[in-house]
Amino acid sequence: MTTATALIPGPAGNPLVGSLFDLTRRPLRTYLAAHRDHGDVVRFRVGPPGLRVEFYGVFSPEGVQQVLGSEAANFRKENAFYDELRSSVGNGLLTSQDGDYQRQRRLVQPLFTRRRVDGYAGAVAQEARALTERWNAIPVGGGGGVVDAAEEMSRFALRAVARILFGADVEEAVAVVDRSFPVLGEYVWDRGFAAIRIPRTWPTPSNRRGAEAQRALYAVCDRIIAERAARGDLDEDADDLLTLLGRARGEDGEQLDPAELRDQVLVFLLAGHETTATSLAFALHLLATHPEQRKLAQQEAETVLAGREPTAADLESLPYITRVLKESMRLYPAAALVGRRAVAETVIDGYVIPAGAQVVVSPLVTHRHPAHWPDPERFDPDRFLPEQEKERHRYAWYPFGGGPRACIGQHFAMLESVLSLGVLLRDFEMEAVDERVALAQGITLRAASPMRIRVTARGAAGLAG
Ligand code: HEM
Repeated sequence: MTTATALIPGPAGNPLVGSLFDLTRRPLRTYLAAHRDHGDVVRFRVGPPGLRVEFYGVFSPEGVQQVLGSEAANFRKENAFYDELRSSVGNGLLTSQDGDYQRQRRLVQPLFTRRRVDGYAGAVAQEARALTERWNAIPVGGGGGVVDAAEEMSRFALRAVARILFGADVEEAVAVVDRSFPVLGEYVWDRGFAAIRIPRTWPTPSNRRGAEAQRALYAVCDRIIAERAARGDLDEDADDLLTLLGRARGEDGEQLDPAELRDQVLVFLLAGHETTATSLAFALHLLATHPEQRKLAQQEAETVLAGREPTAADLESLPYITRVLKESMRLYPAAALVGRRAVAETVIDGYVIPAGAQVVVSPLVTHRHPAHWPDPERFDPDRFLPEQEKERHRYAWYPFGGGPRACIGQHFAMLESVLSLGVLLRDFEMEAVDERVALAQGITLRAASPMRIRVTARGAAGLAG
């Protein structure tokens, strides 16, 4: 039996603006409460009467599978957030659709095969070594240096993705991206969810800041791309992602033009930086607050990585650290909310989602669904033991999305995260300074309060001793 749209349950919200303030001020709490109070498909009403819009949250693994996977053709990346993202970082793989998208994915996909990605392990190892050197150089107060895990992992993940993208030109890019991306990210997020969007051309302080950040990012990418083009084939040995993207050819000789190349680079920086940083930062925080699991992870890191740099082949020998990361991404999925527009009426969990409606799926909510995750708030990496994973619905855990638009960088993200976490665990003792961390939602989920960890060199087994 199906139930009409009007009968889909949902919060009434405020009489004047519906759930507008709840969703803009505390989106994560609002989605979690809506699921708890109203179930797997929830109708939200937003805005004043007369201008009110409705949209739907879909939280069951089965429903998410329909939206992202089996009926993905009914759900397109069309909403104000994607419009803003496209205006700010261009029409790259994350934002493009239809023919443009098919073409780009065909050209880019071969650069993200497992074999290719394994080749980026050297860049990850190099950045992980730089990080341990940095932590070792922190002046040690009473029993260890204090670092903010969120800041440290943001810096590390940016350097790692910039290194695989730009190779030798990493420093030039990192400085600009570090300054400009947070500004642009906030601008896109604020505009994407604003009740009223002021035209980008109006000279408001926010528009000026957004435009300046965008100019700086475009300029550095364009400059590096132009320098590469000028060097031409002299640089045959270069194997960074930018060079490979520039050389990528389709079957009929199709290739990315310089603007498309820049758009892809920006998308990789955007999609591959704060996402991985969030996963790593929360993994560190969880380990720092859970001594028993930390010990198991440290033992594995010491045994597998004793006295040497990590390689891609180590990934398979670090199953516990992999489980820690998966559990960290369950509790704190960097892409906590994923939006689509229904272009055809679709029945989900017995409810009719009308054509034209905006739909949100939320890894954060599904990952805490009590029917699929017993005691959902508890940190327990063993939920990801192979026998337990096998029992679970494919879409009970989907930090990388799913279906045709699933994350192209997921293998790289896992490789980077597991290897670097292994190195840090091998080299440092960790203890939480901040036991509790508040969450905030921007383009990615992040910590809204300090996430400090006391780190002390462990000596013996590691390189750092
Ligand atoms: C822990 C780290 C990461 C997480 C949690 C993550 C999450 C996601 C999610 C949920 C999507 C799907 C978005 C949607 O369906 O609307 C996505 C797409 C994408 N991600 Fe990631 N990502 C991560 C790391 C990376 C990295 C390292 C890269 C690149 C180097 C990357 C590049 C992309 C791209 C290009 C897309 C668009 C793919 C397409 O539409 O074909 N991501 N990511």
